[in-house]
Amino acid sequence: MRKIKIHKPDDWHLHLRDGDLLKLVLPHTVKDFGRALIMPNLVPPVITTSDAESYRREIMDALDKDIDFQPFMTLYLTEDTDPRDVEDGIAKGVVKAVKLYPAGATTNSSSGVRDFSKINETLAILSTNNVPLCVHGEVVDGHVDIFDRETEFIQRVLIPIHKDFPELKIVLEHITTQDAIDFVLNTPDNIAATITVHHLVINRNHLFKSGIRPHYFCLPIAKREVHRQSLVKAATSGNANFFLGTDSAPHTIGTKESACGCAGIFTAPVAMAILAHVFENEDALDKLEGFTSLSGAEFYGVAPNQSFLTLRKEKAPIKFPASIAENELEVSIFDPEFDLNWKVID
Ligand code: NCD
Ligand code: ZN
Repeated sequence: MRKIKIHKPDDWHLHLRDGDLLKLVLPHTVKDFGRALIMPNLVPPVITTSDAESYRREIMDALDKDIDFQPFMTLYLTEDTDPRDVEDGIAKGVVKAVKLYPAGATTNSSSGVRDFSKINETLAILSTNNVPLCVHGEVVDGHVDIFDRETEFIQRVLIPIHKDFPELKIVLEHITTQDAIDFVLNTPDNIAATITVHHLVINRNHLFKSGIRPHYFCLPIAKREVHRQSLVKAATSGNANFFLGTDSAPHTIGTKESACGCAGIFTAPVAMAILAHVFENEDALDKLEGFTSLSGAEFYGVAPNQSFLTLRKEKAPIKFPASIAENELEVSIFDPEFDLNWKVID
């Protein structure tokens, strides 16, 4: 197959940032994606419905007028989140999901949750309203090995939350382990997971190939090759409880190439080209549309995009730039280290 036409994809986990960085990265998502779930870990974070409304306005203002793109907004859950405000945001149609960051788990997560018993009232509201809780699934204890943090989180935090709120829709975000896949496979359909592009491509060796590679550092950190292979199987299986959330997370080159480099990988410009490549390798191009454009929409209770995206396999590899830049800002684009022949043509 040299050409494939699918409903326009959605990105169910995206970092757009704000200010100049937002303006720089936004065009690279809206060219291929009809909608995206926008992560709230700005500085300061998007905590209230009013914060989400202003952030949404900033995104819409940064968008070219002729582009059809819809940002779905999330709230950053804190121990002081006002459950009434969450309820209001849902009723107004502003809030599509609420994001749980364990405090200290990742970039800009210091206002996240330490004591999970403090968020019960908000979880009850989400459950009643059928609004998903998106979870960064890693424990933060320094004594837990960084490669075990997702598995430990499932046991220690996620299973208890699911037990207390069995109807609550939960998205375990950017999964990296067989354990997370098993958790989703062994729970009812109100539990789903997003899978990123980079976790389908890199394993933990990439981080240390001939030296330290800051541009492959993200959280959750890439795991062993067996886990990567399991993620590819899950993504290409056609199981609707696994869908795309790129976690495209731009940081400037200077903040990544540093003694204490930031976590986050910017994949938006190459996401669809890489996915087509990965699905083709698995002989699963027929499952690509489900993963990118149908399953997530169904989970979030929206119809698929009405527009379409066409990809064509070119004979010669497509040249993507190594980075994008504007004024002082330069952001490196994820390099999968293989040729990309799939091109979005329409
Ligand atoms: C994300 C970021 O940079 O905001 N970083 C990352 O490594 N994925 C935050 C997150 O989703 O963990
Ligand atoms: Zn993220």
